[in-house]
Amino acid sequence: MLNDAFHYRTDSLYADSVRVNSILQSVGTPVYIYSLKRILTNYYTIRDAFFGAGIHAHVHYSAKANANLAILRTLIAAGAQIDAVSGGEIYRALQAGASPKSLVFAGVGKTVSELRYAMEQGVGWINGENIEEFSLIDHLAGTLGIRQQVSLRLNPNIAAKTLPHIATGHGGAKFGLSADAISRILSRAADYPHLIFDGIHVHIGSQLHDVTETVQAVQLARDLAAEFPIIQTLDIGGGIPVAYSPGETLPDVRDFAEALAPVVAGYQVLLEPGRRIVADAGILVTEVQYIKHQGDESFVIVDAGMTELIRPMLYNAHHEVTPVERKPGSILHAQLVGPVCESTDVFAQRIALQGVERGDALALLTAGAYGMVMASNYNARPRPPEVVIHPNGETWSVARRRETWADLTALEE
Ligand code: LLP
Repeated sequence: MLNDAFHYRTDSLYADSVRVNSILQSVGTPVYIYSLKRILTNYYTIRDAFFGAGIHAHVHYSAKANANLAILRTLIAAGAQIDAVSGGEIYRALQAGASPKSLVFAGVGKTVSELRYAMEQGVGWINGENIEEFSLIDHLAGTLGIRQQVSLRLNPNIAAKTLPHIATGHGGAKFGLSADAISRILSRAADYPHLIFDGIHVHIGSQLHDVTETVQAVQLARDLAAEFPIIQTLDIGGGIPVAYSPGETLPDVRDFAEALAPVVAGYQVLLEPGRRIVADAGILVTEVQYIKHQGDESFVIVDAGMTELIRPMLYNAHHEVTPVERKPGSILHAQLVGPVCESTDVFAQRIALQGVERGDALALLTAGAYGMVMASNYNARPRPPEVVIHPNGETWSVARRRETWADLTALEE
């Protein structure tokens, strides 16, 4: 959706105060463009909403949403901490200047080498998700001669009303531990001499639409924590939603903060928002290669596809499409499709574009989260560059260059 960062001046799309077309002239398409100013505003909105509700929360930006170093550096410099789900994300966060103590390391299947790396670096919390994992972390901490602070991830058995693909809190999901399993581990805390059991972690899904469900899940975590005084921290996950379509009504960050405040009172609180910080601060710009009429259908074929932004194909997710330069002309109703050799490579089944022609640039909006991080090299397509508009809103740079064909073969014999 259009917003303060991506807006029209007359008929030209701007990213903050930079004309998008001027970026395309030197960088080409497809390209991701991010507004660092918007990212900072989104971060401050979350931090301040919780602070305003009386919760002094640590905001651990969930790097899985967009782990570009320029974004991580900007957020870390502004005081954000990081939620990492792999050794690679820990590495990126450290490269971007995160202090190891400020990192949360979560994930359902952490490997021995990832755990050892995390502990050697000194990450603040490891969120464990199964009994074997706690024994392993305890053993590794023992061999490293440290005591590792951990949280236990609760599976609250709540089916969040979100897209089925991104719900994680129902009992049948692979995530987390039941309340009973957590109680069993905590009542035998002495069996894990190298662990400091500090927190209960709960995350029921992404793009949460219902504050009540979130409160219920956090309440279960809090009730469990209350039985074990060693637990001082509640990590209440991510999931703060973002509107992808005009007219979509969603709870505001403040609604979550105010509803959660009484539940978490007395605990240190960690948040793990990803999408709400970066989604509406990014667009993917693509160029129309061909317009084709076949049968009763029209197709606008662009130079980005499921390799650049897979959300529409994977989740049936909606991204608004808007021209980089608006112009007059007749309206074409068409399918917006990519170039990849898969019939599922469709961004939208039916969009209306005015005066569209070969060579026009189109922007897919709200693409800053789970866009580039999920991009692939399928069909030997180099991944696109990422451009950042600096927080001054006026200047920009290429934060990650476009991959080349040489990059595609660089790792092979
Ligand atoms: N914490 C945990 C434990 C998570 O699993 C996630 C997201 C987050 C935090 C951040 O959630 P957020 O604030 O971004 O909603 N690729 C999907 C989304 C997958 C989310 C995975 N976990 C998409 O494109 O919609």
